[in-house]
Amino acid sequence: MDVLIRATYKEMSKVAAQIIAEHVRARPDSVLGLATGSTPVGTYQELARMHREEGLDFSKVTTFNLDEYLGIGMDLTLSADEDQSYRRFMHEQLFKHINVPESRIHVPDGLVDPAMADEYCEWYEEKIAEVGGIDVQVLGIGGDGHWAFNEPGSSLESRTRIEPLTKDTIDDNYRAFYKNAGVKKSEMPHFAVTMGIGTILEFTHHALFIANGAGKAGVVAKALEGPVTSQVTASAIQLFDGTVTVVLDKGAASKLKNRAHYEHVERLKREGAC
Ligand code: PGA
Repeated sequence: MDVLIRATYKEMSKVAAQIIAEHVRARPDSVLGLATGSTPVGTYQELARMHREEGLDFSKVTTFNLDEYLGIGMDLTLSADEDQSYRRFMHEQLFKHINVPESRIHVPDGLVDPAMADEYCEWYEEKIAEVGGIDVQVLGIGGDGHWAFNEPGSSLESRTRIEPLTKDTIDDNYRAFYKNAGVKKSEMPHFAVTMGIGTILEFTHHALFIANGAGKAGVVAKALEGPVTSQVTASAIQLFDGTVTVVLDKGAASKLKNRAHYEHVERLKREGAC
């Protein structure tokens, strides 16, 4: 596990975007696993800049998103403020700024009939399997330690499914997104369709875990250095056998016990010593 610590959110975002761009350049038909939330916005802005200014080509790329709120889907008849779907978020933050074809974009369908959810979730995983898994998967972390919407208590072997959101997640996401749009908290979705932790572990070849801000420092330290536990589903980072890169700003890294070691290893690697 490489842990890269940068002074600012902007630098963290640049490093994360650079890692994704390296995959896309090396293999133009890369499969990208994407995440929503405020954390990856800077990464997506940097990818959009690379597309615009450096011609980074996404025309053969396929994308899969981790999750979507249950009960909503992208509705272009609404304004971006009114449409809080993750599909819309991805459209506004990334997809409309790059040249990934619509037919290669996959975001779980929040409008799935809950009675058909099991079949739908199996289908979503089959689509990922068909393309050989996810070359690089962007992962943020929720305040309660979740990855995607795998809330505390989700099995580390869980698969794509419908999951109820915790009160903490509803509060966090309400503050960050819904409140500004004038939506009442009671009207915010309380369920999501989410890839499971087992799904992420099975399909991801390179995990790119990003976090910023001192507010995330405690939960980042638990995920990276605490016990592996379903109470902090992002602690599954310790179970990956593929490549793992963690990119943090200095706030998010501020409670890591082994911070000096991570910085030492990065220096050695930069100097070509390992
Ligand atoms: P955030 O959310 O990036 O808005 O903090 C992360 C998450 O909930 O996974």
